[in-house]
Amino acid sequence: MNTLIEKTEKYVREVFANSEGSHDWHHIDRVRRLACYLAEQEGADLFLVEMAALMHDLDDRKYHIEGMPANRSETLLKKLEVDSADATAILQIISEVSYRGAGVETPVSSSESAVVQDADRLDAIGAIGIGRAFAYGGSRGRALYHPEETLVMHDHPDQYYSSRNSTIAHFYEKLLLLKDRLHTDAARKVADDRHAFMLRFLDQFYAEWNFGSSSSQE
Ligand code: NI
Repeated sequence: MNTLIEKTEKYVREVFANSEGSHDWHHIDRVRRLACYLAEQEGADLFLVEMAALMHDLDDRKYHIEGMPANRSETLLKKLEVDSADATAILQIISEVSYRGAGVETPVSSSESAVVQDADRLDAIGAIGIGRAFAYGGSRGRALYHPEETLVMHDHPDQYYSSRNSTIAHFYEKLLLLKDRLHTDAARKVADDRHAFMLRFLDQFYAEWNFGSSSSQE
């Protein structure tokens, strides 16, 4: 195994050791495995993809707390003495990963970037995606569902990050949109099943929510 990968993995495991379930080490590890799988299918550079997948949440804006060092990925790449062209490519991939709202485009500039972004999106849908969405919503004190709320197709990252909508709203504002925003065929194949599962979950959720009310007999 590539020793740079091993060292990066060790560092990232430590950083995310106590994170909540939606963005912990296991999320990183799943994204890494998805990204490597997609890279093989799409013929992307495996080293750049694996490094970027491992580091993709190190500087995530959602988890930036005051006083925390900024640019942890850049600092780590320097410390590990990663070749400067590789380091630049890895930072570019990382900078293109994040979802920033339904109305915000997230273009990619390379096939490496495409597979890492797709891998992160795939871990946000399906059974795991549902679990992560409720874990994250809970960590932010969000309701499971507000029947009366208005959905917002955020067209600015600040608006998206400060959303107070319920976790069910998040399905319509993000999760159900992801399958049509993937860049690679390999990812679209994985997404089909996960997307269908979320639709089944929502049907069941509403059936239980409306149990005993007149709307459930319609
Ligand atoms: Ni992520």
